[in-house]
Amino acid sequence: MRTSQPQTIYLNDYRVPAFLVDHVDLRFELFEDGARVHSVLSMRRNPDSGDRSGALELDGDSLRLESVALNGSPLSAGQYEDHGDRLVVAGVPEAFELAVVTWIEPQNNTRLEGLYKSSGMFCTQCEAEGFRCITYFPDRPDVMARFRTRIEADKTAYPILLSNGNDTEQGDLADGRHYVTWEDPFPKPCYLFALVAGNLLEKRDTFTTLSGRAIDLRMYVEPRNAEKCDYAMDSLKRSMRWDEQVYGREYDLDIFMIVAVDDFNMGAMENKGLNIFNSSCVLASQDTATDLAFQRIEAIVAHEYFHNWSGNRVTCRDWFQLSLKEGFTVFRDSQFSSDMGSPTVKRIEDVTLLRTAQFAEDGGPMAHPVRPASYMEISNFYTLTIYEKGAEVVRMIHTLLGPELFRKGSDLYFDRHDGQAVTTDDFVTAMEDASGRDLSQFRLWYEQAGTPVLDVSDHYDAQGGTYSLSITQNIPDTPGQKDKKPQHIPFALGLLDSQGQDMALNLAGEGDEAPTERVLDLTEVSHTFEFTGVSERPVPSLLRHFSAPVRVVYHWTREQLLFLMSHDTDGFNRWDAGQRLAVDVIQSLVGAPVDAEIEPRLAAAYRQLLSDESLDQALVAKMMQLPSEAYLIELANSPDVQAIHRARERVLSHLADALRPDLLNCYQRHGTDGDYGLSPQEVSGRSLRNTALAWLLHIDDKEGRDLAIRQFGEADNMTDRLGALRALVNSGFVSDREQALEQFYQRYSEDPQVVEQWFSVQASNPATGNLEQIRRLVTHDAFDWKNPNKVRSVIGVFAGQNLASFHAADGSGYRFLAEQVSRLDNSNPQIAARLVSPLTRWRKFAPVHGEQMKTALERIRDKTGLSRDVYEVVHKSLAG
Ligand code: PHE
Ligand code: ZN
Repeated sequence: MRTSQPQTIYLNDYRVPAFLVDHVDLRFELFEDGARVHSVLSMRRNPDSGDRSGALELDGDSLRLESVALNGSPLSAGQYEDHGDRLVVAGVPEAFELAVVTWIEPQNNTRLEGLYKSSGMFCTQCEAEGFRCITYFPDRPDVMARFRTRIEADKTAYPILLSNGNDTEQGDLADGRHYVTWEDPFPKPCYLFALVAGNLLEKRDTFTTLSGRAIDLRMYVEPRNAEKCDYAMDSLKRSMRWDEQVYGREYDLDIFMIVAVDDFNMGAMENKGLNIFNSSCVLASQDTATDLAFQRIEAIVAHEYFHNWSGNRVTCRDWFQLSLKEGFTVFRDSQFSSDMGSPTVKRIEDVTLLRTAQFAEDGGPMAHPVRPASYMEISNFYTLTIYEKGAEVVRMIHTLLGPELFRKGSDLYFDRHDGQAVTTDDFVTAMEDASGRDLSQFRLWYEQAGTPVLDVSDHYDAQGGTYSLSITQNIPDTPGQKDKKPQHIPFALGLLDSQGQDMALNLAGEGDEAPTERVLDLTEVSHTFEFTGVSERPVPSLLRHFSAPVRVVYHWTREQLLFLMSHDTDGFNRWDAGQRLAVDVIQSLVGAPVDAEIEPRLAAAYRQLLSDESLDQALVAKMMQLPSEAYLIELANSPDVQAIHRARERVLSHLADALRPDLLNCYQRHGTDGDYGLSPQEVSGRSLRNTALAWLLHIDDKEGRDLAIRQFGEADNMTDRLGALRALVNSGFVSDREQALEQFYQRYSEDPQVVEQWFSVQASNPATGNLEQIRRLVTHDAFDWKNPNKVRSVIGVFAGQNLASFHAADGSGYRFLAEQVSRLDNSNPQIAARLVSPLTRWRKFAPVHGEQMKTALERIRDKTGLSRDVYEVVHKSLAG
């Protein structure tokens, strides 16, 4: 716990490490009451460091130091200083061996950083700064060493002992114990170290690389999960093949292992050769996982696998460069997912997340650049900005260079920096060097925070046949950053004629050969583009494919949106036009009288979508999703959450009433016959069927109810069963809802991943997730304060998705969240800090709510012994 005010760490203070570690020899003695860690570091002074004589300083956290020896001689207490978070040894020679023994208590480690226990097994999490919770070490990513790890434990309780690399030796010890030794031939930063010990079931497969090497693939899970491994294993093989084909990257070790653990702060971790996954991101079966879960598993397995190159072989120089590996790897996994399924749908999903959550982050008190300039606690910077905006930045480079030059750039990057710890700037330089493009202005995307706003206006001159488009960019101020420079924005667009055909885009002064879609380079504050030979007033299709992470402000008429919704040749923009129309209609009803007329063309447009079977059903399924409350709130200034909630519900009821026969028809058309499969057609069929059901139950339709009850009972997969449950929970059929919830729980009470879903369904809905009900859920037998997934599925979902309840007028939701954050801060500061997020945007909300949110933040601030994690978020939110 914190004893003094947390310090801010600055990128500008970066210095190369004073000491390097060539080799690490670890021996773990694992016991029930703790673990002894013997570490031998082969170290030398760094020739590149200006500091050639200073003392050796190693990082530590929550360690009990048992002994220190230098070159084989034990040091007495006067020969080193143990500051708890630092071990200082003065007067070390040029090169030496330092042996340190520490004692740690994994069984009491509730922070889930370093070595801890989860469902009876030992496991580790070292990114970002968890290795220092295991032993004293220069815990920074630019110190890369070869690791040898020997694990000793009771053979019956822990038959499986794993670490990075290859197992080189094993044997039995006295007292029923045994050991295994692992050696990782690749130098790595300590954040990629991993260890697992447990009674685990092993699933094996093999993968043959393009060059013909056979790789041993192994999954380790608790025996009860034996039947939930296939999808992840298949996803892994698809990822390995894809990275060979698209990036020319082969796997480099002989073994690749995946372990599933129930208690995990994040989704998964890319430890070299030994990826560790949150169970919910890797285990799946038809009966227990939704389509969304399958999709997520495929993406995360790929993401962690891709890190082997973008992250492990080439890693980050310091944590300010986090997006170097995360932004690039998210870009890679989204390319992969779009190749495996529907590119348009994948783009819609990514942009939805970006616009709902990352834009909110970028407009709030925690806003930071893709490459931050300072932080207090690095765990707080595993953000949507680093991951999703970082991926958008890489995507823009891909757009600017085109696929061939981008591949040349990534080849150069991997070749040039293999085995190094580098910066985002090195990445951009490789892209520049390979392509000959000047990306100097583009680099501002890494330095400036905030979402650029593009104001677009147009003018058509019928006489001259010219169409001009004026675009002005403006980047809002963010904490510590004002008066920003204009950024280099690739702006893709098309122009549609009245038949819905793409028109030729001839810029004044160009020849005749004109494309029908082009990417304009915005580099100045304002541009005017003049298109010539334009024979009629076009409808502009702006920012196609969402070519840059910006907000576009253009005064579309509803006619134009309806037109784009049914004609745009860019599927993404078709969807976007539908969203903009729905947003416009809902916004116009916020605070309006209850009998205010609802735009009749909206229902007509949706009817058209539902009835035209020639349309891409995957796109239709996405178009049928109304903009979320969270997105509507994000778009509003001083949002009145209750009024937004009511307006959205009204539109939903209106649409369901108007489209009732079409919805029943859609439900029947996407029937349940045939075997369960995960093709885009099957997934979108289920999505449409369940949307239809949800809409019908929203108006308490009797026929819908019967369908839902039948589907709930007869479904052969979790998507349909949960879809029916969700629809019932969202309906006014109170006793059906209670019964279904009860039956569902009885059926799946032994399965933690399904129980999480069961919690989420209730916590996300105002009818089952009012504060009183939430308080009951957290006292339910299946709830566990020590398990991050359970905390997220009730408290995180309540505060992040059940917005009408969370923003209750009396402020009770805010007070509740403050209480839970304070409680969790004692056991798991990372999770606590993440939960604060809904309160951080207090300034955005109308005065009464804002003040109550602020009071809740102050209550957290005043807690004694606040962690650095929560301290940073709360203080930054209250500052200024
Ligand atoms: N590096 C992990 C990933 O994105 C995320 C992670 C960060 C996991 C920190 C655990 C701790 O793939
Ligand atoms: Zn990652």
